[in-house]
Order: sequence, then C-alpha cells, then structure tokens
Amino acid sequence: MGIRSRQMPQSELAPVALRQVHLIRGQTPVLNDVSLTVERGEIVMLLGASGSGKTSLLKLVNRLLEPTKGEVWVAGRVTTAWDAIRLRRRIGYVMQDAGLLPHYTVARNVGLLLELERRPAAERRARVAALLELVGLDPAIYAQRFPAALSGGERQRVGVARALALDPALLLMDEPFGALDPVVRARLQQEFAALARTLGKTVLFVTHDLQEALRIGTRICLLARGQLVADAVPDDFLRHDAPDVQAYVQAAGFGAPAQR
Ligand SMILES: Nc1ncnc2c1ncn2[C@@H]1O[C@H](COP(=O)(O)OP(=O)(O)OP(=O)(O)O)[C@@H](O)[C@H]1O
Ligand SMILES: [Mg+2]
Repeated sequence: MGIRSRQMPQSELAPVALRQVHLIRGQTPVLNDVSLTVERGEIVMLLGASGSGKTSLLKLVNRLLEPTKGEVWVAGRVTTAWDAIRLRRRIGYVMQDAGLLPHYTVARNVGLLLELERRPAAERRARVAALLELVGLDPAIYAQRFPAALSGGERQRVGVARALALDPALLLMDEPFGALDPVVRARLQQEFAALARTLGKTVLFVTHDLQEALRIGTRICLLARGQLVADAVPDDFLRHDAPDVQAYVQAAGFGAPAQR
C-alpha cells in the first residue's frame, strides 16, 4: 500500500457506505438521497417511524434490494458488483420477523449457513449449542423444537443466533429484541453491545426503541420522509435540534434533554 492509499479517508474503505441512494418500491418513493457511512467497529442505530424505510435500507446492504439511483458499497465494492450469495454469506442478517424456516428444527435453522458452508457435523453441533447458549436458550430444551413451538421472543433469539453462525464482521439487525420482555431485553442488549465491541463487529441496527439506541449505539440515525434527518453520537442525539428528532425524543418520553 502506498502513501496515497494510506492517506485515503477511512470511509473509502468502510464496511458500508450509501452514496446518494434513492429507492422506489413499486410506486412508493422510500429513500430520497440518503448518504451514510458506517466505519469498521461502529454500531449504528437506525430509528424512524413505521414505513420510513429502515428495513429497506438494510436490504440494500445485502442486496436483497438494489438502489433506484446511487450506490451502496460493502467492503470496498458496490453491491451490484458482488456475487449476491457471497455477499450475504459474509453479512449476518437478523430479519424483522426472525425469518426461520418452519419445517426445520431450531438447531438446523441456527446451523443452516454452517451446513451450506459444508462444515463438519461435529463442529456444527458444537457451534449451534454455543450460539443457543449465547442467546440464553438451553440447547437441551430448544435445539430440537420447531419454530411454531417457540414464543416470539424465543424465535427472535434463534434469529440472532443464526446470524452469528459464520462469525460475520458485519451484522444487519432489524428490531432483533422487539418481542422480548424488558428483563431479557436489557440483558441481551448489554451482552450484545459487549460482544460487538469486543469482537469489533460493524453493526447496522434498526430499532423503534430510543432507550435501546442510546444503550447500544455508537451513533444514532433517524430516517424521516425518506431522508436521514439526523446522524449523531448518542450524547448529542437527544440535544439534536432537528424538529423530527425533538418530536421523536418527546414521543419516546425523554422530554427535555436536561432531564436525561
Ligand atoms: N415489497 C414491497 N413493495 C412495495 N412497497 C413496499 C414493499 N415493502 C415495503 N414497501 C413500502 O416501502 C416503505 C418502507 O418500508 P420498510 O419496510 O422499509 O419500512 P420500515 O421503516 O422498516 O417500517 P417498520 O418500522 O414498520 O418495520 C413502506 O411505505 C412500505 O409500504
Ligand atoms: Mg421494518
């Protein structure tokens, strides 16, 4: 690497960069000129009203969607230049509804990518058990169950375990803890934040929960009317002067920033 590349701003090589992205789905303009860079090791929390385009934005990153205009970069390459399958294997994705295969057991769902990558059975079994433990599900109880026999929160945790299976450097998480009770949620938030930081994961994390965003995020972004109306570190987010942010903060019950 020459001096030129070392002087290049880090964002040129960022794990994720959206550049002036526009997205129209059907007749609906969803994203309008969104630019966002996620640097290695950042945990970027994405807030926004229902229908504001959060899930769509995640899907642009693993190429489940392609921008109508603009570019999405992952690991230094535009998504349209990536082989879609290879791209998705290196990105952990926790879908909003967990997205488990109903006719596969919990163990098989969690180990699916390990199976596709032809990892030996013994390694898969051990890894699946460790992942289930990690998300607080006892393998002896849950491994052989089918998704229909799980609560919504348990399904979400299986979805998180599955996303971590191949130890991806980049994680896309779509409201992964939404269906959990406050106690389990707080524990998983804490463990996840510690894990992501320790392992240096890069994370794009969708949530409706401002408290969660403040707890986990290294940055917080707000989508409104197809645009990124705020992009701030947690300490600055509550004080952000954009009316959309203040409306969101008030609605979330945080009141004036001084009361934090
Ligand atoms: N398959 C689709 N075809 C056409 N429009 C779609 C499709 N999926 C979503 N949309 C529209 O795109 C917009 C953004 O949807 P998206 O799922 O990204 O929102 P969201 O911010 O994730 O909402 P929520 O918080 O409810 O999950 C919405 O207006 C939605 O109706
Ligand atoms: Mg969504």
